[in-house]
Amino acid sequence: MTRCAGIVGVGAYLPEKVLNNLDLEKIVDTSDEWIRTRTGMWERHVIADDQAASDLAYNASKPALEMAGLDTLDLDAIIVATVTSDYLFPATACLLQDRLGAKNAGGFDLSAGCAGFASALSVADAYIRSGMMENLLVLGVDVLTRITDWTDRDCVLFGDGAGAVVLTPVPEGEGILASFLKVDGGGGVHLIQPGGGSRHPASHETVEKRMHYIHMSGQDVFKGAVRGMVEAALAVLEKAGYTPDDVNLLVPHQANIRIIEAVRKRLKIPPERAFVNIERQANTSAATIPVGFEEAHRTGRLKKGDLVCTTAFGAGFAWAANLLRWCI
Ligand SMILES: CC(C)(COP(=O)(O)OP(=O)(O)OC[C@H]1O[C@@H](n2cnc3c(N)ncnc32)[C@H](O)[C@@H]1OP(=O)(O)O)[C@@H](O)C(=O)NCCC(=O)NCCS
Repeated sequence: MTRCAGIVGVGAYLPEKVLNNLDLEKIVDTSDEWIRTRTGMWERHVIADDQAASDLAYNASKPALEMAGLDTLDLDAIIVATVTSDYLFPATACLLQDRLGAKNAGGFDLSAGCAGFASALSVADAYIRSGMMENLLVLGVDVLTRITDWTDRDCVLFGDGAGAVVLTPVPEGEGILASFLKVDGGGGVHLIQPGGGSRHPASHETVEKRMHYIHMSGQDVFKGAVRGMVEAALAVLEKAGYTPDDVNLLVPHQANIRIIEAVRKRLKIPPERAFVNIERQANTSAATIPVGFEEAHRTGRLKKGDLVCTTAFGAGFAWAANLLRWCI
């Protein structure tokens, strides 16, 4: 049997605390009206003081494993797509493995910014197709509010969350049909956390210069995102022999409603076939797509057999897409 990876369990977790646009009006020079019209966001979830990425990851993993009916001992690998891991090392995948008691699993974190989850799905699919692994837990988890400069107006864009999927082998054609990845390191300067790595290790100077926060050139990211997300979606459709007309649900990365709309229109996909939850969650980076999967599945917008297209763009620049049959 030729096989591919199918999603057999999905879970999501959003922290309880919610900040709405009016709360942000009190923090930075912005307005509810500007945020709604220029980004489509109304509110975002913010992590509690005593939580970190692995806590969100754990809370998203439990329902995904339960839905899949899988024991944690059956997991061959855990892949966590994140740019806001608990520590620079060890990897959040290791912290999660320990907490889940997944004694037989390998694992690692994957850094591809907001394209992390779509990239991680391609890795899981390759492991399963090759016969090297059977059961994987893949997450998109980010806590961007921990690296957000709350004196910068761009702070309105970000929220925290985690989404998890469990993948197991399914017959070819019934799970992930195609994936696409691309990076352009030349765009790296436009979306970067400059401090804290080996280039600019943490020092008084890096703190004073606010180098541990997200530094972003919004318009460069915006243009790249529209171009990259369209390219990636068209590439997976072409690879698998489909057209945008065949897609039952587009689940795009949620960075700005205007980016989603521009991508959707270029793909000629009608609004009812594009998933949007940006108004309630803002940009949760690698988490937007798996959190979207969970909501779309729970609310009946995703049904068994549906053709689903993901597409994402983020720091790197990195962009990626997957085309899959929904199999739960
Ligand atoms: C950041 C972003 C929302 C800014 O929107 P924009 O339409 O490009 O806004 P501009 O920077 O052109 O600024 C337009 C006006 O809004 C103002 N403005 C910018 N941010 C603002 C904010 N948060 N609140 C209120 N006003 C704001 C500007 O000062 C400017 O005012 P002016 O016309 O009086 O000069 C948009 O570029 C974006 O979403 N980029 C992609 C970001 C992203 O996806 N990042 C994560 C990676 S996936």
